Amino acid sequence: MDLFEYQARDVFEKHGVPVLAGIVATTPDEAQAAAQKLIDSGSAVVVVKAQVKTGGRGKAGGVKIARSADEARERAAEILGMDIKGHTVHRVMIAAGADIAQEFYFSVLLDRANRSYLAMASVEGGMEIEQLAVERPEALAKVEVDPITGIDDAKAAQIVAEAGFAADIADEVADVIKKLWDVYAGEDATLVEVNPLVKTGDGKIVALDGKVTLDENAAFRHPDHADLEDKDAADPLEAKAKENDLNYVKLDGEVGVIGNGAGLVMSTLDVVAYAGEKHGGVKPANFLDIGGGASASVMAAGLDVILGDAQVKSVFVNVFGGITACDEVANGIVKALEILGEQATKPLVVRLDGNNVVEGRRILEAAAHPLVKLADTMDGGADLAAQLAHGA
Ligand SMILES: Nc1ncnc2c1ncn2[C@@H]1O[C@H](COP(=O)(O)OP(=O)(O)OP(=O)(O)O)[C@@H](O)[C@H]1O
Ligand SMILES: [Mg+2]
Repeated sequence: MDLFEYQARDVFEKHGVPVLAGIVATTPDEAQAAAQKLIDSGSAVVVVKAQVKTGGRGKAGGVKIARSADEARERAAEILGMDIKGHTVHRVMIAAGADIAQEFYFSVLLDRANRSYLAMASVEGGMEIEQLAVERPEALAKVEVDPITGIDDAKAAQIVAEAGFAADIADEVADVIKKLWDVYAGEDATLVEVNPLVKTGDGKIVALDGKVTLDENAAFRHPDHADLEDKDAADPLEAKAKENDLNYVKLDGEVGVIGNGAGLVMSTLDVVAYAGEKHGGVKPANFLDIGGGASASVMAAGLDVILGDAQVKSVFVNVFGGITACDEVANGIVKALEILGEQATKPLVVRLDGNNVVEGRRILEAAAHPLVKLADTMDGGADLAAQLAHGA
């Protein structure tokens, strides 16, 4: 989960990382009041910053200086509603203006390829980091961080030395880097990036921008992270699936897909897309892995989410019986259809294979639900589901 800059700012503050005052506003009036508050408490200028989860806000015109509350109101009116790389600006942050003497770069992230963490730092801020990495790689220090020891005093000193920070600020930068590591480890992040980290006119080191990605697999350790979710942006079907602990991703097609095991579901998407080419170009409508132990309630919750997708015209249930045998899955389907009752309106193609397949099929045949059609093979099931979606 990516955080907005204002949320990253709050998380930084919680871990002692030096940041400037910032107030979120959703209307020009609120922006004006926020700016007035900052000006009253001593800011000569404020910065109006678009809050969108994408980079390059400054270049897109989403970061503007204002010298009065009235001006902040005007800038906010321009920025709110703006589209930045497909993201609509619903909020701005009014930030205290910094007197910037120098801009730096720092990040720490999960380095999947090396099964480790990586810290990057540069004393050349102001430039886009991707560009710097390509054009002047020697100006970007890359230091591996051991996940067990993290960024301790020695590691922070190494990062500061390799990036070439000046002696007069080295200790302070090292201290800020350790606090940013506290954010990374303490919040279970996979990315903490500060661009720019600045030295102010009076020699202080401050994080002026922040990007934080939190590891959702660690959410159970951080009940407070639930508040950081951008509920407005979540797809309603994905939100409903999440409430039911279902592993669901909405796609843009007509054939709903349910399977057990991520690998089987992925290959089901492929065969449905392939079969769809023969049937008017229909496509899979979603990824849904109901996992092992597909009980009736899980099956019902999954079907409920898929049938809630207005685009869906048919559903393909592709289950390989393993620990949860086919007869249990078949009972799950029958009970799920009972639970859903009138809400179940679209044809359901079911392909079962594996443990107890004979009994599973017998149960479905005996139930003889008018919407359920059995398929013998995965390809056959995908073809029938695509055909039904196209004909609907
Ligand atoms: N509070 C501030 N006071 C003074 N200048 C600021 C402040 N915040 C940002 N700036 C200036 O604006 C520039 C862009 O701001 P910022 O880094 O937040 O956005 P961005 O880099 O365009 O966005 P992103 O990092 O998402 O690509 C900074 O490099 C800095 O020069
Ligand atoms: Mg930035």
